[in-house]
Amino acid sequence: MNIVTLTLNPALDKSSGIHRLVPEQKMRCSEVHTDAGGGGINVSKGIRKLGGNSTAVFPSGGNNGLVLEKLLQDAGIVVETLRLENETRENFSVTETSTNLQYRFNMPGMEMTTEMADACLDMVARLNPEYLVASGSLPPGLPVDYYEKIAALAHRIGARCIIDTSGEPLRAAADEGMYLLKPNLAELSALVGEEKLSIDQVDDAALEIIGKGMCEVVVVSLGPQGALLVSRDGFEHIPAPTVPKKSTVGAGDSMVSGMVWSLANGKSLREVVQTGVACGSAATMNPGTELFHAEDVFRLLHWIQTYGERYRIKDF
Ligand SMILES: Nc1ncnc2c1ncn2[C@@H]1O[C@H](COP(=O)(O)OP(=O)(O)OP(=O)(O)O)[C@@H](O)[C@H]1O
Ligand SMILES: [Mg+2]
Repeated sequence: MNIVTLTLNPALDKSSGIHRLVPEQKMRCSEVHTDAGGGGINVSKGIRKLGGNSTAVFPSGGNNGLVLEKLLQDAGIVVETLRLENETRENFSVTETSTNLQYRFNMPGMEMTTEMADACLDMVARLNPEYLVASGSLPPGLPVDYYEKIAALAHRIGARCIIDTSGEPLRAAADEGMYLLKPNLAELSALVGEEKLSIDQVDDAALEIIGKGMCEVVVVSLGPQGALLVSRDGFEHIPAPTVPKKSTVGAGDSMVSGMVWSLANGKSLREVVQTGVACGSAATMNPGTELFHAEDVFRLLHWIQTYGERYRIKDF
């Protein structure tokens, strides 16, 4: 299994709790919990939880970068970093325990030059991956079409590329083409130039982007409704089980981790998406930025494979 994840805009996620948010007063927060964050990094964490391995490539800045590296290494993840002097950003989230509402403060990422990002791409090329997952936002300083270069690199080194980002960076990557795209409804709508697609338009939109050569496989994630798998062979709806939802943060990254892990294990596309949905749904059962517990994933996967058929959306 040779999977490499690339995170150009990593973060150190700090979270804490407070009874009630009040302005102009000192607020006593509970103990701070520190997590490694950023799209590709989350995918590496998910793969590890499932028992798989990947290498996480990212720029690592200053002390925060060192903390990030240590958190990942302690979790058993191989890291390859471009060491930089500036500090990797720190995001902060507070959960107001009286209302259970979460307030997320995301800082701008560490400024990167094209030369720095290219150095990360050189690391990826040297690792010669079978699967390359590039995920998350672009840091300030990089051209908006930088993801196109990542997709082109994957083509050049013969890696199957999965890109999970949004807006203009996603469009640029799609122009180059990749193996698998995992847009949510809003991202798919933007890719086909629509304001907001309705559920019964999703299959045609996905086929359109395959027809344009943007990717071979589209997995449209539909939140609590699961996902739609679309390839040249047809389409299939994979429903999500109903679970006690705590926080949907990290659901998308968890889903991608389950899919790439399953792909690297040679599973069928149906099982790949079933596993992705199980990981995404399992992630919603945990609070804050916590991803999923593997035992929840395997239980939910069993449910999907046993009862999923009955809950298919009939609109497609
Ligand atoms: N409320 C929910 N109940 C059950 N499963 C859910 C729920 N929300 C998300 N999921 C699961 O997580 C997967 C991915 O979620 P979603 O479609 O929201 O992705 P996303 O918009 O890319 O998420 P993110 O905001 O993390 O990037 C879904 O396909 C589904 O399996
Ligand atoms: Mg997403």
